[in-house]
Amino acid sequence: MSDVLELVDVSVVRDGRALVEDVSWSVKEGERWAILGPNGAGKTTLLNVASSYLFPSSGTARILGDQLGKVDVFDLRPRIGMAGIAMAEKLPKRQTVLQTVLTAAYGMTATWHENYDAVDEDRARAFLDRLGMTEYLDRSFGTLSEGERKRTLIARAMMTDPELLLLDEPAAGLDLGGREDLVRRLGRLARDAYAPSMIMVTHHVEEIPPGFTHVLMIRQGKVLAAGPVEMELTSRNLSHCFGLPLVVERVGDRYTAQGLPLS
Ligand SMILES: Nc1ncnc2c1ncn2[C@@H]1O[C@H](COP(=O)(O)OP(=O)(O)OP(=O)(O)O)[C@@H](O)[C@H]1O
Ligand SMILES: [Mg+2]
Repeated sequence: MSDVLELVDVSVVRDGRALVEDVSWSVKEGERWAILGPNGAGKTTLLNVASSYLFPSSGTARILGDQLGKVDVFDLRPRIGMAGIAMAEKLPKRQTVLQTVLTAAYGMTATWHENYDAVDEDRARAFLDRLGMTEYLDRSFGTLSEGERKRTLIARAMMTDPELLLLDEPAAGLDLGGREDLVRRLGRLARDAYAPSMIMVTHHVEEIPPGFTHVLMIRQGKVLAAGPVEMELTSRNLSHCFGLPLVVERVGDRYTAQGLPLS
């Protein structure tokens, strides 16, 4: 299997501080990774490197076989799907849900043309349907609830048929039903052999969809653990990562974590 992402000794330094420090990490084709870590640990920074929007200050980053700095990022970006808060803010609020997803086919955040291909429109409808958004096609993006917006962004990220799909806290802000619905849909995607390689940032082990294969834990910019979920998602690693005693349990094909009672 080839590497979808290969970081070697990657550091990102801003104002003399390493936001991400000496990270070596590789993601192989077909793997589905969850990134866990406290606020400010460097998770979004890592995703920004993986999406080619941020270049490492030192070390090398290869994305889909091409090294950052030696490849035209405009060739690379359509091959990567990214759904996160930063993207949501760039999208025009008045565009309909269907338009919001369709514009991704042309690598744009705005500018609605009337002459999109029928093929693209069919694809956009299919992705939205897969995420349970068929009833909202004509709603303006700005009027959507948090959960509806997240699902639209994932459909949008799928539109370019990416080889790598990056999700930054897709379940944040969702109610319990919304979270469970999204986790189930992401689980279905994770188990689809034709779906892209996936990397998802989350704060909660409860949000790791079934079918996710690997976990990376990061704290203060440094990787603490990286490997198969069943090996690395341990109470010991999670406690170390979040800096408090935690117990992780597997419940069916999902996980839960809680702090130990104070004695
Ligand atoms: N451009 C920048 N200049 C200086 N510091 C930055 C910059 N971007 C991010 N940081 C800092 O880098 C650290 C890591 O940020 P990052 O957004 O990667 O964290 P995160 O793990 O995604 O956190 P959260 O869980 O809160 O989203 C934070 O302390 C943040 O304040
Ligand atoms: Mg973040």
